[in-house]
Amino acid sequence: MSCACRSRASEHAARAQPQLNGNGELIHLLSVEGLPRAIVTQILDTAANFASVNDREVKKLPLLRGKSVFNLFFENSTRTRTTFEIAAKRLSADVLNLDIARSSASKGESLLDTIANLSAMAADLFVVRHGESGAPHLIARHVAPHVHVINAGDGRHAHPTQGLLDMYTIRHYKQDFSRLVVAIVGDVLHSRVARSDIHGLMTLGCAEVRVVGPRTLVPCDLAQMGVRVCHTLQEGLADADVVIMLRLQNERMSGALLPSSQEYFKCFGLTPEKLQRAKPDAIVMHPGPINRGVEIDSAVVDGRQSVILPQVGFGIAVRMAVMSIVAGNDA
Ligand code: CP
Repeated sequence: MSCACRSRASEHAARAQPQLNGNGELIHLLSVEGLPRAIVTQILDTAANFASVNDREVKKLPLLRGKSVFNLFFENSTRTRTTFEIAAKRLSADVLNLDIARSSASKGESLLDTIANLSAMAADLFVVRHGESGAPHLIARHVAPHVHVINAGDGRHAHPTQGLLDMYTIRHYKQDFSRLVVAIVGDVLHSRVARSDIHGLMTLGCAEVRVVGPRTLVPCDLAQMGVRVCHTLQEGLADADVVIMLRLQNERMSGALLPSSQEYFKCFGLTPEKLQRAKPDAIVMHPGPINRGVEIDSAVVDGRQSVILPQVGFGIAVRMAVMSIVAGNDA
């Protein structure tokens, strides 16, 4: 192949999969969709190695020493922003949390101008949450080759580190994906977590992925992806190994998609009685924030099958893994 053809081929590959470099290594994390299984496994294995750092007296590794990580959260967050900050600090990076509400974005500065100015301050890694799907992709296309971008949730599109920490949690408790039935329950339509989870489960060879919810909250294209769509909890939870509950995202709903939250809870809220449809050793997960009494009963949140709080904790090791991997690869 001539030099010109090789360069056109690598440009095409970069456009098709901008999160990988020409060697197929991870340089940005923008979505779980399209990530090769080997990279998903690399992230989960690296996170497993980092998990013990949390138990040390000195919880530090020098892998990002001298690097500057900028957290840019244009939407609110408790778990993701905090665990990214902890993860970056555990890797010895300097961390800056831009207060978006007090930033010059409120004076009309564009996203790309904000990024250009922060890049001038020698940023090495941007962690970005944004209400617009595709915002992290846009940033990744405009930063210098040595700068890395991690999507911390964009619109309804993707929440890849949540998807990966969910895969880590499932692997931690259940090991072999090829034998698992995983039910994702609730407002799938507005959930970037559901999308990232589905891609992660498919990539790791999960035996059966089900989504469960009212017709108004389940996108119609999922069956084509090989996902089983169920419109009753009774069907959706039958013999499930893993139950992932989702929050009703009222802030993303433009019309009346549900009669009422009481009606929703009656049909799709997870109670201890309904959970008995799943396997006796099924685990219950939730990305948070939880709305107790809307999508899940308190007795389940705090019950023996809930792994919701360990799931949050695993986010630190998974985000350490993602940051250390992208920072170790050049564009
Ligand atoms: N799971 C999740 O994204 O939670 P936060 O919105 O609190 O970050």
